[in-house]
Amino acid sequence: MTEKAITNEQWHEDEKVWWNKYGHYMTFQWTLTPELNEALRSDMRDDYTDFLHKPSGSLLDIGCGGGWLSMHFAMKGMNVHGVDLSQEQINDANVLKEKHSLQNVSFECCDLVQWDCQKFEQGFDSVFVSAFLHHVPEDELQIIFDKIASVLKPGGRVYLYEPLCESAPGQGSPISRGVDFLYKAFVYVFSTLLPKHLGLYNEEYIQNVERGYQMCSPHERPVELDVLKKCCRDSFDIIEVKGRHLFSLGFAMHSMGLKETARAIYSKIAVVLYWADKCVFRLFRWSDFSQPKRFILCSVKLKRR
Ligand SMILES: C[S@@+](CC[C@H](N)C(=O)[O-])C[C@H]1O[C@@H](n2cnc3c(N)ncnc32)[C@H](O)[C@@H]1O
Repeated sequence: MTEKAITNEQWHEDEKVWWNKYGHYMTFQWTLTPELNEALRSDMRDDYTDFLHKPSGSLLDIGCGGGWLSMHFAMKGMNVHGVDLSQEQINDANVLKEKHSLQNVSFECCDLVQWDCQKFEQGFDSVFVSAFLHHVPEDELQIIFDKIASVLKPGGRVYLYEPLCESAPGQGSPISRGVDFLYKAFVYVFSTLLPKHLGLYNEEYIQNVERGYQMCSPHERPVELDVLKKCCRDSFDIIEVKGRHLFSLGFAMHSMGLKETARAIYSKIAVVLYWADKCVFRLFRWSDFSQPKRFILCSVKLKRR
């Protein structure tokens, strides 16, 4: 188990403060690169839509943030409920709901660890967990999985999109290590060194960094695969674990803070990196690249027994 210097209460408080303060800006940043988002996300969108969509069915979106994934399924006719800790994020989600004039989606502001889900017992066909689990203390993940198990119908499906890591990362092969070294060096030069030394950041990004913004909330870290398996063992079958983004997503997020011309160029590079990620995941296992603090974004499909 990861060592923690703070209490779980403090962890959740820090998360809430961070998302209330910066969540809106992060959501805004994603609106700056629509074509890039489409390129990076369309494969996975087809995959989660096939897996989770059920005509007239119901879907729970946990850690729903600004609600864009809830909206995706609501627009396809599912009854959707989204839950998130941050009131600011829930406000953004409700704005989106109004914009699309949808009645079949609702949002609730609540810490999911404390969430009273009794009224939803076996109420959902599907659950979407996108980039949420890695914001929860490791020793509370079982609580989240137990809640998901209790609100899902038997045979119900769960799609996770989370950064994963191996509990005891191996070394990979000499080839995967070489690929990793070169790839990491390239990404570091382009996403960190060049923007800093060439002054490529835009004014709004600089202002947000000055008021404390970083691309990560204070305690987030990849979820260990073994911990995930342990949380699933009583109620879920793991159908698939698949690497989705190695360096491309982080690179894309860096590009969102750049001035317009640089952003356009970096967006094109990010798409190339996405294809590089896909090649890497075909040639090697995602876990060959696992390192303690590295975010390798994976999709995981689960089925409720
Ligand atoms: C990275 S965002 C993901 C948002 C959305 N699912 C997406 O994929 O864009 C993580 C979200 O988890 C929420 N969150 C963090 N801890 C939470 C908790 N204990 N209960 C509910 N939501 C939480 C944050 O407020 C934030 O909106």
